[in-house]
Amino acid sequence: MKDYIRKGLVTVNGSVVRAPEQRIDETCDRIALNGEPLTFCRFVYYMLNKPQGVVSATRDLLDRTVLELLPEEKRAGLFPVGRLDKDTEGLLILTNDGELAHRLLSPKRHVEKVYAVRIQRELSPEEIGRLSQGIDIGDDKPTAPAKVEVLGECEILLTIHEGRYHQVKRMLKAVGNEVLSLKRICFGRLQLDDRLSPGQSRELTKEEVALLHES
Ligand code: URA
Repeated sequence: MKDYIRKGLVTVNGSVVRAPEQRIDETCDRIALNGEPLTFCRFVYYMLNKPQGVVSATRDLLDRTVLELLPEEKRAGLFPVGRLDKDTEGLLILTNDGELAHRLLSPKRHVEKVYAVRIQRELSPEEIGRLSQGIDIGDDKPTAPAKVEVLGECEILLTIHEGRYHQVKRMLKAVGNEVLSLKRICFGRLQLDDRLSPGQSRELTKEEVALLHES
């Protein structure tokens, strides 16, 4: 913007500004670049289909981060809402809205997360019962009740309302099974857009932002 201002391309309320330090009131001043009105958005929200092999962090010394999957000019101030493991795929929200992120991650709110899980071997009805009722994964208390939907011999949908460290993998391990692949497809009332291939992202629509606030 500084460059644009110096080149005389920016107007405030119809007058060209020359000083980058000029203060404006984003609630009422009309800003234009090259004659095109600019709108101001305090908060932005992206949906990312996180691919395997990137970490849910804003910076990392070794690995590629989820932020690096967004164009550079869109990254400022953004962070992922929670974490998916490096080898987990699927729905991750990136935003600069700290308050919403805090609410969505609060253990008190029990925000629903749905995972598509490929497992090593078929679950018995007894194991499905244990996973559904809540199971000891080595923490202070067992997991909260979960929903297990069997999609195929070695494929399930698992719905949980907590966000413990490696929770899905540890739940399956507790019944002697193993997760072969993990993909989050819902977060709260928001669903992963299946047109996004791994690594792709898009801004949330107004309706989706509202769904997140309701989650
Ligand atoms: N549970 C896991 O084990 N890993 C994830 O990335 C998310 C949930």
